[in-house]
Amino acid sequence: MNKKIAVIKGDGIGPEIVTEAMKILDKTAEKFNHTFEYEQLLMGGCSIDANGVPLTDETIERAKAADAVLMGSIGGNTATSPWYKLPSDKRPEAGLLKLRKSLNLFANLRPAVLYSQLKDACPLKEEIADRGFDMMIMRELTGGLYFGARKTEEVNGVVTATDTLTYNENEIRRIAVRAFDIAMKRRKKVTSVDKANVLDSSRLWRKIVEEVAADYPEVSYEHMLVDNCAMQLVKDPAQFDVVLTENMFGDILSDEASMITGSIGMLASASLNDTRFGLYEPSGGSAPDIAGQNKANPIATILSAAMLLRYSFDMDKEADAVEKAVEKALKDGYRTGDIMSDGMKKVSCSEMGDIIAANI
Ligand code: IPM
Ligand code: MG
Repeated sequence: MNKKIAVIKGDGIGPEIVTEAMKILDKTAEKFNHTFEYEQLLMGGCSIDANGVPLTDETIERAKAADAVLMGSIGGNTATSPWYKLPSDKRPEAGLLKLRKSLNLFANLRPAVLYSQLKDACPLKEEIADRGFDMMIMRELTGGLYFGARKTEEVNGVVTATDTLTYNENEIRRIAVRAFDIAMKRRKKVTSVDKANVLDSSRLWRKIVEEVAADYPEVSYEHMLVDNCAMQLVKDPAQFDVVLTENMFGDILSDEASMITGSIGMLASASLNDTRFGLYEPSGGSAPDIAGQNKANPIATILSAAMLLRYSFDMDKEADAVEKAVEKALKDGYRTGDIMSDGMKKVSCSEMGDIIAANI
């Protein structure tokens, strides 16, 4: 097959980790007789430097014209980078949010899996790590606090900031349907996470999830409050199959879930709309402190490329080959610094890419 991939390397470690993911895609294309054509696009801080804005309309149009988008990470050090002296709608992250919204990428899939080889990197007690876990966090990505009206103003001489959390029933329904569809292909369990003891938006969330659940009698589902979920993730992560939640809760819980897999450098993600198109990026940030040092863990980005093959290109055996190649590298003892443990072989970002490519 001939496919066009828009590539947004971004800032910080973005260029290094995406280069390794492209190495893996190229090797996969060679092995399975495909042609992947890349178009590099700017977004985030590098686009601010080049174009004065974090995302241009042209970038949006070019991304739309591709079959899928592969992304690294964007943003810099929020305390020191000049990008953070700009108004909030001109900062790197505003580009990412606008891109997600413009491409209607409402379903964010973040699989958190504890590889048996990485048990030593898991910070949980041994008896918990021994049970392992394999969950899919389904985060709503184009609504909620991220996209509600916000303002900072003076009210009676007191500076006051407001963010609004809005969901309508259609936004909840479409992500819930996705979550139940995915659960049908997994262990058939959905945990819907909300704060229904306080928030109206969560009470509507619960009601709509219950309506959707009625169409999936084979799937067992439960509601869980977000604070309890944060606790359950470290107490008994094996209980989760599909975790369905709104934008902000999903942002926070997915970082927590990534850490119990050993490192945020292991967590892939896919952001999908209602076609086959998607944007694929690691869940972690741009890690400006280690940028340019060839130290970053490229595995989350490589696993995101595997999701791209699976979800946008329908290439299941190719995606399986990439995932197996990652597992073999781990089984053979290769580790980047973030997942290093005693007796393992420490490798750089590009060495990890070479090793995984050789395994395909
Ligand atoms: C993520 C990131 C982004 C988010 C930031 C960079 C805006 O943390 O993808 O999880 O909050 O969605
Ligand atoms: Mg995040």
